[in-house]
Amino acid sequence: MDIPQHIEAEIRSRAGNGGTLNCYIYDVSAMHKKIEQLKRIMPQGVEIFYAMKANPHPAFLATAYEASAEGIEIASLGEAERAIGAGFAASQLIYTGPGKSPEELRWSVKHGIRTIHIESLTEAYRLEHICAELDNTQDILLRINTNFAIHEAQTTFSGGSKKFGIDEEKLDAALPQMLALPHLNFRGLHVYAASGVLNVDDLIKNCELVFGMAQKIEAQYPDVACDIIDFGGGFGVDYLETGSDFDPVAYAEGLEALINNYGFADRTFFLELGRYLTADSGWFCTEILDIKESRGKKQVICAGGINHFRRPAALAINHPLSIIHMDRPKLFDGQESVRDESVYFGGPLCTGADKLANDVYVEQADIGDIAVFGYAGAYGLSMSNIEFLSHTRPDEVLVD
Ligand SMILES: Cc1ncc(COP(=O)(O)O)c(C=O)c1O
Repeated sequence: MDIPQHIEAEIRSRAGNGGTLNCYIYDVSAMHKKIEQLKRIMPQGVEIFYAMKANPHPAFLATAYEASAEGIEIASLGEAERAIGAGFAASQLIYTGPGKSPEELRWSVKHGIRTIHIESLTEAYRLEHICAELDNTQDILLRINTNFAIHEAQTTFSGGSKKFGIDEEKLDAALPQMLALPHLNFRGLHVYAASGVLNVDDLIKNCELVFGMAQKIEAQYPDVACDIIDFGGGFGVDYLETGSDFDPVAYAEGLEALINNYGFADRTFFLELGRYLTADSGWFCTEILDIKESRGKKQVICAGGINHFRRPAALAINHPLSIIHMDRPKLFDGQESVRDESVYFGGPLCTGADKLANDVYVEQADIGDIAVFGYAGAYGLSMSNIEFLSHTRPDEVLVD
């Protein structure tokens, strides 16, 4: 992986300051450009929401705001408060995710958020009671767990038994009940197939399926219109650097063709993007504190592990890695180093699960060098086991 010059300069300057280096470095300019590009190329009616779960750091929220994202996809009250703190209005928030608490639903209705995405019948009834109590109504989307799964994706959100949404085959029973709830305004569907999808055709196939489902529902229930269709997130990132980047232009063209085919030009389409917008805006940089040989393989121990960057272990993948050489003096003769070999990178935690990378080929690494993991802007610190072993929280450094 090539590290941009200004990122390397920042790492070198921080590593030269005497302390142990362990931080995230962010440059959010790529995120800004991506939102601008998506707003330019997407068909009319498409609205871009930032799925802030990917990175809730204020700089990412500020970028979404400055680049005029239509709003924020939230999954908790904490996220709502952060989004509002960044300047978004409550009416720009859309709320997804299973297990919304009564307090969270009440806050959402009181503050007038744009849509609540219903994940179960229980949630629909809970929201109905809260709206009745507050003498208010709420726009909702219904999240459906379709029978369609994108198997090449990093994580799937529909297909099979899932905690997300209502199973497609249960719609006939569930939808009439939901439509009868007087305080809920049914506005449309939410179908999020998968995360980390690189193949545009797979996502377009999901859009087509959802369009078909919307048509079917409208034919079955003449008073119902699916004005809003939410495709969730899912635009992938080429973590393995194979050259097969997600092609947003092909996606925009595919979606436009579908919209025309289905005569859906008057509808609104939500995209809730996290990873695609943020992954290449962040680098996790951690100092190599020890290297030892253990039964035929080098173990490289870094200052931060899954407490600060859990994603590689959680998803059993390697992120692209570069080593910044610091030429530190050796502590003793015979000190181990890495030369042209495949090694294990881990952190300082007392668990074998503390993996940053495994079987990763490294030309050269020495104690005191800095391991830099790329595409760490999405699902980095916020997805990590930050409290485990109470290590100092890594700095989050913003550069431009
Ligand atoms: C409901 C919902 N929307 C959007 C996203 C963002 O997905 P991605 O980062 O793949 O764009 C997620 C991720 O888990 C999600 O659960």
